[in-house]
Amino acid sequence: MIRFLAPVTARLEVMPGVWQVHARAPEVARAAQPGQFVMALRGASFDPYLRAAVPLHKIGAEHVAFLLDEQDQAGLAVPALDATLDLLGPLGHGFTLDPAAQHLLLVAQEMGIAPLLALAEQALARNVKVTLFALSARQERLYPPELLPVEIEYRAFLVREEAESAAFDRVLLEALPLTDGVCLASAEALYRRLGARIMADPVRRRAGLVQVWNPERIGCGMGLCLTCVTQTRQGPRRTCTDGPVLDLYDLV
Ligand code: FES
Repeated sequence: MIRFLAPVTARLEVMPGVWQVHARAPEVARAAQPGQFVMALRGASFDPYLRAAVPLHKIGAEHVAFLLDEQDQAGLAVPALDATLDLLGPLGHGFTLDPAAQHLLLVAQEMGIAPLLALAEQALARNVKVTLFALSARQERLYPPELLPVEIEYRAFLVREEAESAAFDRVLLEALPLTDGVCLASAEALYRRLGARIMADPVRRRAGLVQVWNPERIGCGMGLCLTCVTQTRQGPRRTCTDGPVLDLYDLV
């Protein structure tokens, strides 16, 4: 983990109020893995004192990108184009891409696309087929497919009511046997619901099938404050250092 200053090099509003922010950070780009995060200073005055945990959205050779929501009061404010970000990282345990995997299914609920795009790009670079299911209760929070690599098979799901939610679950459960693994970034309610259904199936119920990006309650981001401790089958785990990517099997 290193502290680095990253000048903002580009900003693009990809959905209403949601910005893809690119910054030059060769040190972190070389070291980072999809699913990891950085701790970003929120302002020059150290007020608020705690940094914000921000997932790496894209990881390039010299640049990284973040996906920032103007409405997220707990997150990092969208910086100006001439700003310099003060970051610590990369931090945490990211996604594991099985070298034998041939087909990966990614499931992103709204801003859950933030940590998954870097993973999709890494998988495609290894010739792994990638399917992305994006779901949201709002059309404007479905990631624009034209911003995704063309090789990704993309399906968007508007999930506004119970029937649409049940239909999404059915599609996901039917897709499971066709993939070598699932990586999911969603609200806790969704991964717990899907987890309960997957674990109820003795054929699919196994460790290693579904990785969940679960950044709940990250405070210090470095394993010191214990605010992020979550209970798992393996005992208590710190989301910031043992995660934020954890095995669904351990969580439900
Ligand atoms: S956020 Fe402080 S220990 Fe995990």
